[in-house]
Amino acid sequence: MSLLLAMQGWHVEDWRARFEALLPEMPVVVLGEPFDRRAVHYVASWKHPPGSLGGLPNLAAIFSLGAGVDFLFADEALPDVPVARVVDPDLTTRMSEYVVLHCLMYLRQQHRYMRQQPAKLWDDDRHQPAARSLRVGIMGLGELGLDAARKLQLIGFDVAGWSRSPKTVEGLPTFAGEEGMAAFLARTDILVSLLPLTPQTRGIIGAELLAGLAKDGRLGPFLINAGRGGLQVEPDILAALDAGTLKGATLDVFETEPLPQDSPLWTHPLVTVTPHNAAMSEPEAVAALIAAQIRRLEAGEPLQHIVDPTRGY
Ligand code: NAP
Ligand code: GLV
Repeated sequence: MSLLLAMQGWHVEDWRARFEALLPEMPVVVLGEPFDRRAVHYVASWKHPPGSLGGLPNLAAIFSLGAGVDFLFADEALPDVPVARVVDPDLTTRMSEYVVLHCLMYLRQQHRYMRQQPAKLWDDDRHQPAARSLRVGIMGLGELGLDAARKLQLIGFDVAGWSRSPKTVEGLPTFAGEEGMAAFLARTDILVSLLPLTPQTRGIIGAELLAGLAKDGRLGPFLINAGRGGLQVEPDILAALDAGTLKGATLDVFETEPLPQDSPLWTHPLVTVTPHNAAMSEPEAVAALIAAQIRRLEAGEPLQHIVDPTRGY
């Protein structure tokens, strides 16, 4: 019985070493090296090449090495076994750090000071609005969105959330579905996207959504997308920035990754690019979560954090 690591773009040796330490009884094999396909019971994947998980007759479960699973369901030949994803405080905390950092960057107008410093400009307009005067709207009120919302509220931001199904969350105004979208956007100065990529959410951050953001805010509107690049229509974001209807965009994820050298996002003065590392999966924490899941299955207990393939997240 073995665990197959199937990943692209990450350092497989770090994961192999961590899994071998956690599961000493289980051989850990790596896609691309020779291995016995019949012995593979578990796969841990990050962006495995589509079609490469076929011919594993004893496969019992696939683990995403991240919180997202869009890359798994994009594989039309994905084996029909349960799929589980990462839900882990280490990853969640990292994402909330990212969201809080970039909301504060906009609240405190830090981008402006960074642009002014090379010109040695001491800005006379030194007023800073209070966090309570900025309305943050979080799209995606799941594991990551809810934690970020709570941490932003602690700082004082006026936070609301939007999800697919209606939610009641103490102290947090919530909106749901297409019917709740317009009212949610109209009270949003900083839009934070923590949505999964599904057929329903693909391209959602386009011209129409951006045009619906608040026009009466103290600052903004601004966009922070740390969900998936496929959520955003990049030409529409650039057009809104150039038209002045969007005042800044912080993007961690892109339609094509790595972001192509010729993308205008790299050099746009109102765009902040980060290399899809808002919340990296750390082998230390994430391999421990997956090893615990494997032990649960081996003990006849149910898998946790299973993804519903019909919802796609
Ligand atoms: P989650 O717990 O599954 O939450 C997803 C949220 O999105 C839920 O609130 C869900 O609504 C909402 N949603 C899904 N489809 C929707 C739709 N069509 N309309 C409105 N809301 C919709 O996921 P999570 O753990 O918070 O992770 C979210 C995403 O973050 C991941 O899928 C991944 O793409 C991304 N991520 C990025 C990084 C990074 O480094 N940039 C790291 C980790 C994760 P319901 O509550 O009604 O189900
Ligand atoms: C990262 O993007 C993840 O899905 O965990």
